[in-house]
Amino acid sequence: MQEQLKQIETEALSELTIITNPRELELLRIKYFGRKGRITAVMKGMGRLSKEERPIIGKLANEVRSKLTEAFNQVTQVLSRQEQEQRLIAESVDITLPSRRPQLGKKHPITQTADRMLEIFRGMGFQIATGPEVEHEYYNFDALNTPADHPARDLQDTLYITDEIVLRTHTSPVQIRFMEKHKPPVRIIAPGTVYRRDYDVSHTPTFHQVEGLLVDHRVTFSELKGVLFSFVQQMFGEQTRMRFRPHFFPFTEPSAEVDISCTVCHGKGCRTCSGTGWLEILGAGSVHPNVFRYVNYNPEEITGFAFGMGIERIASIRYGLPDIRVLYDNDLRFLKQF
Ligand code: DAH
Repeated sequence: MQEQLKQIETEALSELTIITNPRELELLRIKYFGRKGRITAVMKGMGRLSKEERPIIGKLANEVRSKLTEAFNQVTQVLSRQEQEQRLIAESVDITLPSRRPQLGKKHPITQTADRMLEIFRGMGFQIATGPEVEHEYYNFDALNTPADHPARDLQDTLYITDEIVLRTHTSPVQIRFMEKHKPPVRIIAPGTVYRRDYDVSHTPTFHQVEGLLVDHRVTFSELKGVLFSFVQQMFGEQTRMRFRPHFFPFTEPSAEVDISCTVCHGKGCRTCSGTGWLEILGAGSVHPNVFRYVNYNPEEITGFAFGMGIERIASIRYGLPDIRVLYDNDLRFLKQF
């Protein structure tokens, strides 16, 4: 029995040296100290020993047990220290890595262009006005001298919310809303989002316009030309020329479309201007007397002019974009260039 104990001790100690993790250690503990373990078996066998042998073997058994217990404890400690070290290594942060640069955002080219346009008109004394994007057809059409059966209503591919409520197709309704609340003189510039069922290289279903309106006693068409020419020169440079072409809008009479000399070929004719030398930029005209009647202004006493232009159109000329839809692709490679 003495020998058996010695053997248990030697074997246990040698098995302990190859333990690499807590699970293996636990299995080994069960092998020796468990209910059916080898040490336990020896202890149980003590009853069968003679009186003389019992104290000797008992003492030895206790010694072996406490020696092994201590050895087990030691291995437990080593394992837990190892585990902690490994965790620290796994969780460690390399503080020498270069940091990620924060990406600086900036204004979208449409916003940059709108800002510049408003800045120019503010410089000429225009005040900023706004209105709702979900608009009553009265403001979008009727009060702009475009009654329900007017053929001009077909000119616009309108997105209807209900029979009477539309997504505004232009910023012109802001004219009506402003004049309803203010007496002349009026000098406003109204930027905003507008909607039409339209999609091709020069149209997107959501786009932006800037509307201008100036109303006072004895406002003339030549003042309209002066204001727009000043805008064009500040926006596109002093070499830029401008021309008016007769056109029709229900809310202005006379009406015109306004072109600028092509910013690419300066009038010689190229692909950008389809060989004409001119680029269309806006619609304008003298406010129709009927529009004044809708807002209870007296057309015998006052006159005015109005104009409206697409911000995407201005941006595409300013930046030379062949397809305005790139403004809505949200491709950072494109947006970062502005
Ligand atoms: N509302 C017109 C459009 O969306 C643009 C326009 C033309 C506005 C003439 C005006 C104007 O104020 O006088 O096409």
